Amino acid sequence: MKLALVGATGMVGEVMMKVLDERNFPIDELLLVASEKSVGKEISFKRKNHKVIGLEEAVAARPNIALFSAGGNTSLEWAPKFAEVGTTVIDNSSAWRMEADKKLIVPEINAHLLTKEDKIIANPNCSTIQLVMALAPLHKKYKMKRVVVSTYQSVSGTGLKAVQQMENEMAGVKGEMAYPYPIHKNALPHCDVFEANGYTKEEMKLAREPQKILDDRTFSVTATAVRIPTAGGHSEAVNVQFENDFELGDVRKILHETPGITVQDNPDTNTYPMPMYAHDKDEVFVGRIRRDESQPNTLNMWIVSDNLRKGAATNAVQIAEYLVNNKLV
Ligand SMILES: NC(=O)c1ccc[n+]([C@@H]2O[C@H](COP(=O)([O-])OP(=O)(O)OC[C@H]3O[C@@H](n4cnc5c(N)ncnc54)[C@H](OP(=O)(O)O)[C@@H]3O)[C@@H](O)[C@H]2O)c1
Repeated sequence: MKLALVGATGMVGEVMMKVLDERNFPIDELLLVASEKSVGKEISFKRKNHKVIGLEEAVAARPNIALFSAGGNTSLEWAPKFAEVGTTVIDNSSAWRMEADKKLIVPEINAHLLTKEDKIIANPNCSTIQLVMALAPLHKKYKMKRVVVSTYQSVSGTGLKAVQQMENEMAGVKGEMAYPYPIHKNALPHCDVFEANGYTKEEMKLAREPQKILDDRTFSVTATAVRIPTAGGHSEAVNVQFENDFELGDVRKILHETPGITVQDNPDTNTYPMPMYAHDKDEVFVGRIRRDESQPNTLNMWIVSDNLRKGAATNAVQIAEYLVNNKLV
């Protein structure tokens, strides 16, 4: 197994290496790839130093799998070049997610769709992954009609520059800005760029991606995405209206029995998910499970997960594991 990590010097890239190591992903040769400015830099993996290489050199090496987390433009330009030499690309950017001929995969939900012919596979958006992980088993049982989600997203979701901005502001140091406004002591109702309809791209990812992953266009999602000064993970307040009624006990049981989900829900002991405790964990945490008393068949819940783990690196590595285990690469 020759594995390339494109974006190895970034936030997701660093967590990818950690996850590959923890899960003991079988690697014979690791290629660490980043932009020209990082070429030659040394990064340690499993106590061995690796020199960062450029994209041309990585394509020429014809890796079996390339895990991409280097932004949409890099993916648009380079993923097809890797695919052409036979590499299977698993891409973390939004470049390919909504293309009809590219699969958008959350392994617990739809990895069975993958075949040897899939040479560019898309990893969903971080806030989508944690949302659909909780929605999928409930949709199966009660059939969703409409989802309203408000996000409280970590600065780590924007990358290294944003984490640096928050740390600078906390220390009272002037520095480069990743956001148009300060993030420390603030909340920005602005994740990614604005689209023509007045929604941000992040909000539209939340509206579009769940339908593709669940292969169902009969339900709709509307979102407000907000960046807050946390670092451990994204949180989501989610309101779901179902076709069919439910018992809260059954909802908790279904979520409890879903692999990858941990229910943390006990008002008596102040038990609910929080980004500080989701940090560095792979699970999607669900709590504050309660009935929306304003209309029938409607549920409220609070979903938290580490956007760099299940929201990016872990999901991508799980896809790679599925490909290896099913001899699809
Ligand atoms: N952060 C998250 O929670 C999250 C979640 C899901 C998906 N994603 C996606 O993952 C990608 C990376 O995010 P991040 O948070 O890790 O960002 P980041 O910390 O800013 O890292 C960006 C990485 O991409 C590399 N890169 C940038 N331009 C490149 C180029 N032209 N050629 C080759 N490499 C290039 C950088 O290399 P240099 O160091 O050499 O510049 C760096 O390794 C983005 O597409 C993002 O949307 C992020």
